[in-house]
Amino acid sequence: MGNTEQLFRDISAGTVPGPPVFLSAKIADYRQRAMGHGSHILQGGIPGDGAIILSSNDYLCLAANPVVTRAQADYLVEQGRGLMRSDVFRHELGPLASFEQRMAQWTGMPSALLTQSGWNANVGLIQALADKQVPVYLDMEAHMSLWEGTHSAQAKPRPFRHNSAQSLENMLKRHGPGIIAIDSVYSTSGSVAPLADMAEVSSRYGAILVVDESHSLGLFGPMGAGMVAALNLQDQVDFITASLSKTFASRGGIIIGSSENLEYFRYNARPAIFSSSVMDHEAAGFLATQEIVAGAALMRAELQAKADYLREGLAAAGYNVSASQSQIISLVSGADGRTIRLRDVLEKRGVFGSVFCWPATGRKRSLVRFSLHGNLTQSQLDRVIDVCAEIAPEVEPQLWPVPRS
Ligand SMILES: Cc1ncc(COP(=O)(O)O)c(C=O)c1O
Repeated sequence: MGNTEQLFRDISAGTVPGPPVFLSAKIADYRQRAMGHGSHILQGGIPGDGAIILSSNDYLCLAANPVVTRAQADYLVEQGRGLMRSDVFRHELGPLASFEQRMAQWTGMPSALLTQSGWNANVGLIQALADKQVPVYLDMEAHMSLWEGTHSAQAKPRPFRHNSAQSLENMLKRHGPGIIAIDSVYSTSGSVAPLADMAEVSSRYGAILVVDESHSLGLFGPMGAGMVAALNLQDQVDFITASLSKTFASRGGIIIGSSENLEYFRYNARPAIFSSSVMDHEAAGFLATQEIVAGAALMRAELQAKADYLREGLAAAGYNVSASQSQIISLVSGADGRTIRLRDVLEKRGVFGSVFCWPATGRKRSLVRFSLHGNLTQSQLDRVIDVCAEIAPEVEPQLWPVPRS
């Protein structure tokens, strides 16, 4: 009581102390990192009319698709939002179960389970699978959610060299079977995993293989069913995970695997238990989206051709974009100050990518990422190349770090 009275007196006198030192130190550190170079590293300008937007992962341009929005809106109007609860209580059939069945069939795996996000899929999965005794082998560029799951499980992260099956094997030899966590297409560089090699090593060492297909589902493989399906690796991959905020252009995530494994996940992964599930009308939208994605062979092929064209143009203009083998192409300028300058000169000329910096990249490996989409026109692609050629003397790509493929 005495303390409370003192606090009230301090408030009246205006002498309440500021935040505790541990917090003010963190805020000061953040401000230095984010704004130490003048403007906020993640906050560029606002695109004006005619700007070329390369910052969205809506690769097949479905965010405003009228068939999808109609499916979602109709369901919402007719049925409302459904039951507000954790997924552990769901047992009836409905759009969530229909979508899960559809995703399993599409990818050629036994079963699928919706999650609230790609983040929750990965964090929950690794948390539920690993523990202090189970090593988690992470590609050095694996998505942060896979690392976060490892921390959540209190498991030991065992990083291996990016895209190196040999480095993975060396680690497995040393530390024994565990969980291998990789992306199929890496979100910062656009590099593609040597999936068949990784799967072969995983099988030989009796490991569990988790492949995050967030940036490949819908864009690679038969009818867009992803890279695991493209390479017929369903028997060697234990779990596919994906964010549905990329090609599926919404909020949500999915885990695809055996029925037994997914049942285990559903009742043991903390994000699945302690956070409420995806809503029915969202799943109605996913069902409509999946149909469009499966039939989008032409846009898929055109998107990869556009990526090839841009990569070639950028290389000719002096940029090393050899790490990319997909619709993600990054300009790895390295130091944060240089990356802010690069972003600003691009934006001044109407080209808007996204800045990635530590902890999304290694320190001194920050970059501007271009995420391509199927509606980009030839003249927009040429404009991006022309802009990059024009700014090259100013941003000096020859001095940048060599990208890792
Ligand atoms: C490879 C990868 N995995 C997982 C996620 C997380 O997905 P979500 O945004 O659905 O949480 C992302 C998105 O940033 C991603 O790029």
